[in-house]
Amino acid sequence: MNQLDEALSSLIGQWNGYSTGLITALVLIITYSIMTRVEAEIHPMLLARQAQGSPVRQEGESPIYRGSSAPHGMPLNSGLNVKEPGASKWSTGRDGDLRDIWKRSVLGTPEGEAPKGKGKILTVLGSQKVIEHKHDSITRAINLIGQQISSQGGSKVAIYLPNSVEFLATLFACSFYNLTAILLPFDEPEDVIVSMLQRSGADTVVTAPGAFPFDIVVKSYPALKQLIWVVDEGSKHLDWNEVPKGVGGSVNVSTWQDILNDVPVAAGTDLLSYDESKEPNDVVIFWKTKPGNLEEMVRLTQKNLVSAVSAQLTAVPSHSRFSPADLFLPAASLSDSFPLVLTLAALYSNASVALNSVAGTSSDIALATIGIAPTVVVATPETMRKTHVETTGKLTSAIASVAHWVQTRSLVQNGAMPVASFLTQFTDNLRPSIGVTPGKLRLLYVADSAGADTPTLSEHTLSDLRIFTGARVIYALTAAKVAGSVAQTQYHDYRVHGDGTGSHFGPPVSSVEVFLRDSGSHKTAEDGSTIEGQIIVRGPAVSGGLAELGVLGKIREDNTLAYV
Ligand SMILES: *[C@@H]1O[C@H](CO)[C@@H](O)[C@H](O)[C@H]1NC(C)=O
Ligand SMILES: *[C@@H]1O[C@H](CO)[C@@H](O)[C@H](O)[C@H]1NC(C)=O
Ligand SMILES: *[C@@H]1O[C@H](CO)[C@@H](O)[C@H](O)[C@H]1NC(C)=O
Repeated sequence: MNQLDEALSSLIGQWNGYSTGLITALVLIITYSIMTRVEAEIHPMLLARQAQGSPVRQEGESPIYRGSSAPHGMPLNSGLNVKEPGASKWSTGRDGDLRDIWKRSVLGTPEGEAPKGKGKILTVLGSQKVIEHKHDSITRAINLIGQQISSQGGSKVAIYLPNSVEFLATLFACSFYNLTAILLPFDEPEDVIVSMLQRSGADTVVTAPGAFPFDIVVKSYPALKQLIWVVDEGSKHLDWNEVPKGVGGSVNVSTWQDILNDVPVAAGTDLLSYDESKEPNDVVIFWKTKPGNLEEMVRLTQKNLVSAVSAQLTAVPSHSRFSPADLFLPAASLSDSFPLVLTLAALYSNASVALNSVAGTSSDIALATIGIAPTVVVATPETMRKTHVETTGKLTSAIASVAHWVQTRSLVQNGAMPVASFLTQFTDNLRPSIGVTPGKLRLLYVADSAGADTPTLSEHTLSDLRIFTGARVIYALTAAKVAGSVAQTQYHDYRVHGDGTGSHFGPPVSSVEVFLRDSGSHKTAEDGSTIEGQIIVRGPAVSGGLAELGVLGKIREDNTLAYV
C-alpha cells in the first residue's frame, strides 16, 4: 500500500502540461478509432476463395472452376425461370426468351407486390430534353415494324443505330416475329458496314439517314431488299420514299415514322401472344477484335442471352439487385453483348432505362449521363480510364490527397465504402460529374474484352474509381462467343493487392464454368502452385456451348480469374 501511495504521489508530482497534452491526444485517438471503426461489408473469408475448383481434373487442364452460386454437380444457370401466373411457387419455370423480357417490362410489378413499380424508358436528347416512352407505344412499334418487315419477306434484319428506343424495339420485333436480328456496331467506315452486311447475309436494314452509306451499299450489296429509315424530328419533312434515281430500284424504302403513322393510333398496342415452346431466331453480333482485324461474327441464341441475363441478375447480392427504383444507363453500345445483356436485365427487373445516342461513341462520361441521374451505368474501359486520368490530375492539394488516402484506407483495409466525412468535402468538387444529381450512382459496370485492345484497368484504378464515383465497381471479362460476361468481380470486393498494378476478374458468373488448358510453359503444376493456360469457357451462355478465348489466364490464390 505504501509503495502504491508513493508511486501515485510521484506521478502526480511530475504531472505537467505535457502529460495533459499527451493523455488528451491518446484519448482522442482511441475515441476516433472507435467511432470510425467500420464493419467490413462482406466477411473476408468469402473473398479469400471466390470460386470452387472441381475435385478432379483432366490431363493437361486445370480443375473446372465455378462461382459459388453455381456449385459443382448442379446445372449452370440456364435462364430466367419464367412461371405462368398462378403456377406453384415450387414448380420450375421456363428459361424464357427475349419476348418474356419485354412482356415483364410491360407488365411491371403486380399490385401489392413489393418493390412496386414499372420501369420507365427514356430517351435523353440533351440536358433539357428527356422523353419518356410509354410501354404501349413501344409495343405498338414492335408490332408494326415486325409486321412490315415480315410482310416484305425480310428475315435477317441488320440494326445499324446508336443506342435508342428504336434499337430496342427492332430487337424485340425480331424476337416476336421470329426474325434474325443482326446488331452492327455503330459509327463504322463504309467498307466495314458493307462487309458486315455481306457476311451476315442481311436482307433488311433499320438505320438512320446520315449514318448509313445508302448509295454505296445498294451498289455493292444487291441482296438488300428493304430499308427502314429512323428519321429524327428535324428531317421528318423529307420524303425518304424517294429513292435516288439509278440506284436502289429493288430496295423497298420506308420510314419508321410512316410505318407507325399510317395506321390508327390504337392499332397494335396489345402484346402479341406467342408460342412459348418455340424459340425465336438468334441474335448475331459483331465482336471488335484488334484494330485492323476483321470483326468476329457470333451467333447468340435466345437461350445464350437469357442465361446471361439471369446470371447478371443473380451476380449481385439480393439487397442490391436492379429494382424499379433504379435508373439504368448503358453508356456503352448496345451492339456489344455485355451492355445489351445488362440492359435486358434492367428491363426484366422493371428498372427504368435511359438511352442516349452519344453513349458508346463518345468516351466522356459526363456527356453520356447528361440530363439524368442514373443509379447504374455500364461504361467502356476507355471512358473510365479517361475519367480516372482526369480526376487524378485534379487531386493536387495536400488535403485532397490526405482525404483520398483516408478513403482508400477505408476501402482496402476495412472493406467498406467510404462514408462522407469532414475530410471528403475537400474531394467532392473534384469528383467526375456523373448525372445531374451527384451521389445517385450506386453501381458501375466496366468490362475488358478478351483479345481486343481495350485498356486493362488495374486494381488501383478500380479502387480510385470507387472513391471518385462513390459507386461500387464491377469489373468483368467478356469474350466474343460468350453472352454477357465470363467472370466478374464481386460487388463487395474492394481489395488491392501489392502495389495495385495487377487486376483480376473475380469468379466465373453462374451461367458458365471456366478451365485453363496447358499452353507452352503456362500450365497447371502438379502441386497446384501455379494454374495457368488458355482460358476455356463452357455453359449455356456460350455460343456453341464451348469457347476457347485465345488468351492466357491464371487462377490466382483467391480463386479469381486473371490474365497471365
Ligand atoms: C417486375 O415485374 C414482374 C411482372 O409483373 C414481377 O413479377 C417482378 O417481381 C418484378 N420485379 C421486380 C424486381 O420488381
Ligand atoms: C414496297 O412495299 C410496298 C408496301 O408494302 C409495296 O406496295 C411495294 O410493291 C413494294 N415495292 C417493292 C419494289 O417491292
Ligand atoms: C422460328 O423459326 C425457326 C425456323 O427458322 C423455327 O425452328 C422456330 O420454331 C420458330 N420459332 C417460333 C417462335 O415460331
